[in-house]
Order: sequence, then C-alpha cells, then structure tokens
Amino acid sequence: MCAAVVVAVDGPAGSGKSSVSKAASRALGYAFLDTGAAYRALTWQALESGIDTADAAAIVALLDGFDYRTTVTDEGTRVTVGDADVTDAIREPRISAVVSDIARVPEVRLALNDAFRRMIRETDAPGIVVEGRDITTVVAPDAAVRILLTADEAVRIARRSAELAPGTASTAGQLRERDARDAQVVDFLTAAPGVVTIDSTELDFDQTVQAVVGLVNDEQEKR
Ligand code: DC
Repeated sequence: MCAAVVVAVDGPAGSGKSSVSKAASRALGYAFLDTGAAYRALTWQALESGIDTADAAAIVALLDGFDYRTTVTDEGTRVTVGDADVTDAIREPRISAVVSDIARVPEVRLALNDAFRRMIRETDAPGIVVEGRDITTVVAPDAAVRILLTADEAVRIARRSAELAPGTASTAGQLRERDARDAQVVDFLTAAPGVVTIDSTELDFDQTVQAVVGLVNDEQEKR
C-alpha cells in the first residue's frame, strides 16, 4: 500500500488553521489530526489530577498512563482521555490559559510527537492533514505539502472572538500572550525553507480552504 499523502499545516492561534485544515481534509477525503488537542487533553488530565501545570516533573509522570484517543463519529471527532469525553472541556478558557506550560516541557513534546508520527503512519485514509505548530518542521518535515497559515493579528483576534461563546472573556492580550509563550518553544511565525505561506488576511473561509486543497492537488499532479 502507498503511504498516505501528508499535508502539514502550522500557524498561530486564530489563524483558522484548525477549521481550515478540517474542511480541507474533508474536501480531499483525507484523515485529520489536530495535534493541539493532545496538548489540551494532557492539560485537562493535569488539572483533573490536581497537578500544578508548572510542575514539569509531575506532568512528565502523567505521560505514562495518558490514555488519549480520538474517534471519528457522524457528529465530528470526539476526544477521550480514559473513559472521559473531553471534546468540549479541552476548549475551555481554563485549559487555554495554561496549555503553554505543558507544551514547553521537552519530554511531553517528544512523547506526543512519537504518538503523532504513529497516527500518521497508521492512517488508512489516502492522506492526512496534520495541524499544529511544529508539524512542518519537527513532526513531519518530509510531508508532501507543508503550509504556514497566517493572518494579520487584528484579523486573527476578530476571528477568535467570533468563535468564542458570547460572554467568554478573551482579549487581544490573551491571544498575544499565548502566541508569545508558544513562540518561545517553536517558531511557527516564519516559514521554514520549502514551506508555503498562505496569508488568509484577505481571504474568506472557503477561499482559504481552496488554497490548501489547490496546493495538495498541484502536488498530486506532480507525482
Ligand atoms: O492549536 P491549539 O490552540 O489547540 O494548541 C494548544 C496549545 O498546544 C498551544 O498553546 C500550542 C501547543 N501546541 C504545540 O506546542 N505544538 C503543536 N504541534 C500543537 C499545539
């Protein structure tokens, strides 16, 4: 069997990479892997276990029994940790506020990256769209298509605010702060050599999805 076509998508918070990658995977008939969800699920596990997210040793100890799974259902992808369905919980602001603490622990990144590479290898779809912060550079640097999805900060802030439930406190400051913290760990703001930048500032959602699908189709024609 041919190995799946890997489409790697990186970008900052609010760039739309999650929803765009998901829609592109659907249009292409590919699987989809949201790597941020795994960092969020481990954060959920830490908070559930009463662990201080700044305690790196305690976080590393959690990795051993971390039973993280994603299941595709008719209603979308469900994320579970053990028996708990955490699909909605991992999007809560209490998780977003501290997930960077966990993402900066090197042992966490190594363990999750191994798991991501295994999921990519084991997919039975003809391709897989993988989105995160270090997919084009660390997780899948050999991906057939590598994309950095960006948008001007003001546009990203507006899109993120529109996504959140009314009354949810999310300020421009929070988004900036999270990007600044995450950027200390991996550089997802500049395209590595060979990575194509898609700037969605002036594009609507469908145009951005089309830009991704178009790049994948171009690559397929070359094969
Ligand atoms: O994309 P997201 O907001 O769901 O990501 C959650 C956090 O996980 C984010 O603060 C950065 C981190 N992350 C990472 O460091 N590397 C990845 N490949 C994906 C996410």
